[in-house]
Amino acid sequence: MPREKRAILVTSALPYANGPIHLGHLVEYIQTDIWARFQRARGHECHYVCADDAHGTPIMLRARQEGITPEELIERVGREHRADFADFHIAFDHYGNTHSEENRRLVTAIYEAAREQGHIERRVIRQAYDPEAGMFLPDRFIRGECPRCGAPDQYGDSCEVCGATYAPTDLKNAVSVISGARPVLKESEHLFFKLSHFEGMLRDWTRSGPVQPEIAHKLDEWFEAGLTDWDISRDAPYFGFEIPDAPGKYFYVWMDAPVGYMASFRQLCDRAGIDFDRFWGRDATTELHHFIGKDIAYFHTLFWPAMLGVGGFRRPTRVHCHGFLTVNGQKMSKSRGTFIQARTYLEHLDPEYLRYYFAAKLGPGIDDIDLNLDDFRSRVNADLVGKLVNIASRCAGFISKRFDGRLAGALPDPDLYETFVRAGEEIADLYERREFGHAMREIMALADLANQYIDEQKPWVRIKDPETVPSVQGIATQGLNLFRVLLVYLQPVLPRLAERACGFLRLPPQRWDDVAEPLLDHVIERFRPLMTRIEEKQTEALLAASREALAPSAAPSAGATEPAGPLAAEPIAEEIEFADFAKVDLRVARIAAAEHVAGADKLLRLTLDLGGETRNVFAGIKSAYDPQDLVGRLTVMVANLKPRKMRFGVSEGMVLAAGPGGKDLYLLSPDDGAEPGMRVK
Ligand code: 2FM
Ligand code: ZN
Repeated sequence: MPREKRAILVTSALPYANGPIHLGHLVEYIQTDIWARFQRARGHECHYVCADDAHGTPIMLRARQEGITPEELIERVGREHRADFADFHIAFDHYGNTHSEENRRLVTAIYEAAREQGHIERRVIRQAYDPEAGMFLPDRFIRGECPRCGAPDQYGDSCEVCGATYAPTDLKNAVSVISGARPVLKESEHLFFKLSHFEGMLRDWTRSGPVQPEIAHKLDEWFEAGLTDWDISRDAPYFGFEIPDAPGKYFYVWMDAPVGYMASFRQLCDRAGIDFDRFWGRDATTELHHFIGKDIAYFHTLFWPAMLGVGGFRRPTRVHCHGFLTVNGQKMSKSRGTFIQARTYLEHLDPEYLRYYFAAKLGPGIDDIDLNLDDFRSRVNADLVGKLVNIASRCAGFISKRFDGRLAGALPDPDLYETFVRAGEEIADLYERREFGHAMREIMALADLANQYIDEQKPWVRIKDPETVPSVQGIATQGLNLFRVLLVYLQPVLPRLAERACGFLRLPPQRWDDVAEPLLDHVIERFRPLMTRIEEKQTEALLAASREALAPSAAPSAGATEPAGPLAAEPIAEEIEFADFAKVDLRVARIAAAEHVAGADKLLRLTLDLGGETRNVFAGIKSAYDPQDLVGRLTVMVANLKPRKMRFGVSEGMVLAAGPGGKDLYLLSPDDGAEPGMRVK
């Protein structure tokens, strides 16, 4: 029975338009692309759209820092993103950005509907304001001393050292990361979306099965905690869409970002003549699938369905959440060279290696996945080169050299071929359920069977005996037919390898069901290697290049939630007497040991050797250093700082570092020749 044709719209989360795509991002785009390609191979109508997330304070400040307009910034970054995605074979049907007229119209319509239906409330709030920069400050753009423990350089919302949470206005000696000025409190009217009005609808929707069990559990917790009002406005200056009935106020970036899915699709519809309402109308019977990271589930499972409902649109069929990427078992790190940008990877390795490796590791849950570079090499080499491509290379030579490139007219083992064809339904079911790792294991088990068949038939022995020579045509034909079936099953993951294989087999692009008929009495091309092994020196070079790409002189940090860095130098502090300075006892210290502190996001525990005496110091430098890179290094410490009791223990001094924070933090080091314990004068 022919399968029913589905109409499916698929999206991946929109990357921020102020930084490069890295391998962490690619976990999502590769998995979505595999799923979308799979649906198309099965004959369904499947549209895959995405866009750059172009609004918000970090993008506005980033553009200012570069001396260009936000429009110029998002244009440039958009171009880079599209090139990276294309080179990883991510086959978007459309890729826009959220700063479009289509998006403005849609978000405005949703907002106006919400307002008409009584779901928007206006009220005045007090917020930190930078009088020099003339703007309100998001919490992450304020730093100061913790009101509870006095730890310096803490963010405006919580203290990393003692765990206190507070309002940015409680910070002592707070400064704006933007200008260095002291923030003041200022009142402003904000617009709030009354999420609690939608609780009943959202509870019903989540019960209809659109999320994974882990997320359903999270949703229960959120419902229990109560749905609070959502602040959807931001004051000028802000890069975004001005709210029509609130001059000087803009939609918060997260309000128009998901609407960007619709706007990007709208652009595709206009270009390709697709009916927009068929996919977004309230009663649409088509499917809508969002692929996102687990960190943005709240936006996609609460705010987004509520906004869609209010605007008269359909809700998502399913929100597929995934985990994060670790490299060699740890968070991606620039000093280990494991913060790997998409472009750096492409300069060293074939994107299909990574597509296959991610597929082999991915499942339907929200666990993080690890890219272990040794495992990556051996898995790709063993599976793709050693098993898959090997089937073709073991058979092709016989056909081209001894049988004029022509396949036999019948298969010697039709049952074995049938086994491969029948496995297709189970493999399809695994793809459908995002059980990609399981699907890859099934396919590789079939590849083992194909190799076993060739081992048993020994065509290389038969070819030497004139009596058995004719049988070799059938054996090689059998092997190549099994290879073709596997290629069709792997095509969503390895589209370019599949293309090369189709070239070699002289076949048009293949659909899933094409394997029902074997390829017989058919002329093929001479075989050329379809894929080469990954060498250790390639992964080594990738790490070295990634280290270089992120050296301090190089570019911009990727995260849009990170402050974009100071736009003006920190102002010089008040003048002091020499006697005041002389009170500070600065010493050269050797870092004897360095380790992570369980539960601390910013701190490392350092054991400092002062030449005879050791000190335990907690330093807020984790964002910039890996402990293992610090051991043995000389630095400078304040040796007579009064010991301070912190949440994780007592800190007996302080090391000195320069820079605004985050990755831009540079520990001071004396020149060669300095010894631990020497006084710094
Ligand atoms: O977290 C992020 O990177 C956001 N830019 C994702 C937006 S997804 C969607 F809602 F637009
Ligand atoms: Zn504190």
